[in-house]
Amino acid sequence: MPVAIITGASKGLGRALAGALAARGWDLVLDARNPEVLKETAAALEAYGTRVTALPGDVTDSWHRAGLVTEARHLGGVDLLVSNASALGAEPLVRLDELPLDGLRRALEVNLVAALGLVQEALPALRAAPAGAVVTVSSDAAAEAYETWGGYGASKAALDQLAAVLGAEEPGLRVWAVDPGDMATDLYAAAVPDDDDPRPDPVSVVPALLRLLDERPASGRYGAPALLEAR
Ligand SMILES: NC(=O)c1ccc[n+]([C@@H]2O[C@H](COP(=O)([O-])OP(=O)(O)OC[C@H]3O[C@@H](n4cnc5c(N)ncnc54)[C@H](OP(=O)(O)O)[C@@H]3O)[C@@H](O)[C@H]2O)c1
Repeated sequence: MPVAIITGASKGLGRALAGALAARGWDLVLDARNPEVLKETAAALEAYGTRVTALPGDVTDSWHRAGLVTEARHLGGVDLLVSNASALGAEPLVRLDELPLDGLRRALEVNLVAALGLVQEALPALRAAPAGAVVTVSSDAAAEAYETWGGYGASKAALDQLAAVLGAEEPGLRVWAVDPGDMATDLYAAAVPDDDDPRPDPVSVVPALLRLLDERPASGRYGAPALLEAR
């Protein structure tokens, strides 16, 4: 069975994707910082009958990243690496004139540096996989100038460029940066707590990611709404 590492998989989009892959028979290595929530998620996913390894930790910890890849190797390798865990830099979001520089550093560390660290750790296994793929979860804020989203958006824009170059450097892999669009999750609520407009459930975005896996288009940046519309 193929094996996926998904960071930030205890809730939100990561959990929704993990459920869909488990339903397809994928074995999974999942992380998140809160061990209790992660454990509950892993227990729920085991109902699909696949192997689920839950490794609590912070993606900014290099030992933790190495542990994720070691666990995946125990399951057979790494077919898919999904960098989904994310930091906002400020909760709620604030304008750039107020953004704490430590918050920006944290967003860059979680969203960018850790993502590259995990790619570096997993690359030998990804290259050895029959159809290795990397998904980096991006954001509309990487491409649009929304007030207060500057620090987070800058980190996601940098992640997009990292994914683009990785795709060029690793022609044997697929590297997809995916903008999932707005979703009703804890991250969104923390970013803009006063926004009461309804947002889509992250489960509704998962078919876009599955389409990438099924059709394996060229490496590049994709928006979930377009992937869903064309389906
Ligand atoms: N929601 C939106 O509207 C939206 C829009 C565009 C893009 N995105 C992107 O979509 C992705 C998923 O976000 P979401 O909205 O699904 O968020 P979410 O529901 O808040 O889930 C975030 C997940 O990441 C984990 N996490 C956070 N920091 C971590 C760290 N340093 N190390 C390991 N795990 C960590 C969280 O668990 P712990 O807190 O226990 O660590 C949780 O499992 C993110 O990349 C986000 O930037 C979201």
